[in-house]
Amino acid sequence: MTTTQPEQSTVDISIFGDDIVEKAQQIIARYPVARSALLPMLHLVQSVEGHVSQAGIAFCAAQLDLTTAEVSAVATFYTMYKRRPCGEHLVSVCTNTLCAALGGDAIYAKLREQLGSDGKPLGHEETAGAPGTPGSITLEHAECLAACDLGPVLQVNYEFYDNQTPESASELVEKLRNGEKPAPTRGAPLTDFKQAELQLAGFFEGRDPADNAGPSASIETVRGAKLAQERGWTAPSMPDDAPLPALPEKK
Ligand code: FES
Repeated sequence: MTTTQPEQSTVDISIFGDDIVEKAQQIIARYPVARSALLPMLHLVQSVEGHVSQAGIAFCAAQLDLTTAEVSAVATFYTMYKRRPCGEHLVSVCTNTLCAALGGDAIYAKLREQLGSDGKPLGHEETAGAPGTPGSITLEHAECLAACDLGPVLQVNYEFYDNQTPESASELVEKLRNGEKPAPTRGAPLTDFKQAELQLAGFFEGRDPADNAGPSASIETVRGAKLAQERGWTAPSMPDDAPLPALPEKK
């Protein structure tokens, strides 16, 4: 059996200071083996740089005893890891089937035009404004955001804004560009992309726990459960001696 050996990287990773190394160690301590910590580690490096740079990849590799190729393979597989610097806010418009049919495509087209410049609409994962500066916005179209009952939806830094129209989405983005942080329809108050990434890495410092007590379920989401409750419907119970389904025979 061959094993990969951690490599010596020549990339400068000094942007990740002692405080980030300390956080990395806390993340690693959550797992039985260091390599399992890679996903939150990539969120941690995004909280510093606003994307996963070559330095971020080298940092993760060094902390987790992985090769940079192994870290790159993961960082380039998942769409939540950005390879180019993001704006202060990441706006994700769902253009999957249901939202698209309800107006998601029109919302995305509207925001592309609104955030574009010189007559050129903004493209997928492109940023209006200098990345990281106040009011800068990265736009992306997203696959199903698991809120189809509330479509068309969009997210800002992964917080939900439900039942959108091109007009309401346009107004929301204009407010973001002006430094405002309109409250999401549900969930925690809006922060910015880097702060959201820190939370995805498992750190909630500076957040009042009460902040996270926003509405988490919408009327639409619990409508079925409420109807069942009002009408006294319950799921049939499973008899204790119900036979287990037969497993297919091994061939
Ligand atoms: S299709 Fe948009 S949330 Fe599911």
